Amino acid sequence: MASQATINFLSLLVIFNLSIKISSAAREPFACDPKDKTTGGLPFCRVSLPVQERVKDLIGRLTLQEKVRLLVNNAAAVPRLGIKGYEWWSEALHGVSNVGPGTKFGGAFPGATSFPQVITTAASFNASLWEAIGRVVSDEARAMYNGGVAGLTYWSPNVNIFRDPRWGRGQETPGEDPVVAGSYAASYVKGLQGNDGNRLKVAACCKHFTAYDLDNWNGVDRFHFNAKVKILFF
Ligand SMILES: *[C@@H]1O[C@H](CO)[C@@H](O)[C@H](O)[C@H]1NC(C)=O
Repeated sequence: MASQATINFLSLLVIFNLSIKISSAAREPFACDPKDKTTGGLPFCRVSLPVQERVKDLIGRLTLQEKVRLLVNNAAAVPRLGIKGYEWWSEALHGVSNVGPGTKFGGAFPGATSFPQVITTAASFNASLWEAIGRVVSDEARAMYNGGVAGLTYWSPNVNIFRDPRWGRGQETPGEDPVVAGSYAASYVKGLQGNDGNRLKVAACCKHFTAYDLDNWNGVDRFHFNAKVKILFF
């Protein structure tokens, strides 16, 4: 839990950085608004400080209540620190999708490019193609974020091993071979996140936790099924 929280807060800083970078564009800064005299100068907003120090400062200022409300996908705003609410859940398995609540098609963005389902793209066994698709998807994602209709954090790719067709979501995955799935994930994530080193183009999140792949079969679903996971399955 502690390390998950740290990852979330690190990601939060990524968002600060991304937001600051484009603050001259259409969108208001997510946090650390230089116009906000009471919060803009706080240490966690100072880009000259090392990220670890900024994270420590931010976490030190948050109350327990505020931390709890930041550990869900629809993270609540912390107005006293100049932080807006953020919806972490956007989706881009094979193109930016409006399945996640963080993305809303409409206006100048009636839709996004939809590439073929991942199971078919994976069958090309072409890692540079997977990365190229990821680059196009993240180009569109950034444009949609700048236009105020999508997030910067994508719950993609789906790297669950496709073990049983009755799961019903095999088409989202690169298939049954762990080696192909690993190579697919590495390429697609690179395409999404870019190669700036310090800054993520968008943040990719490989899903889901192991032994997830049972949606609903004969009244059995993943929320209630005791998977009895062996170390072998990791
Ligand atoms: C693999 O994908 C790239 C695009 O990234 C394409 O140029 C290349 O021709 C593909 N390779 C094969 C063997 O199809």
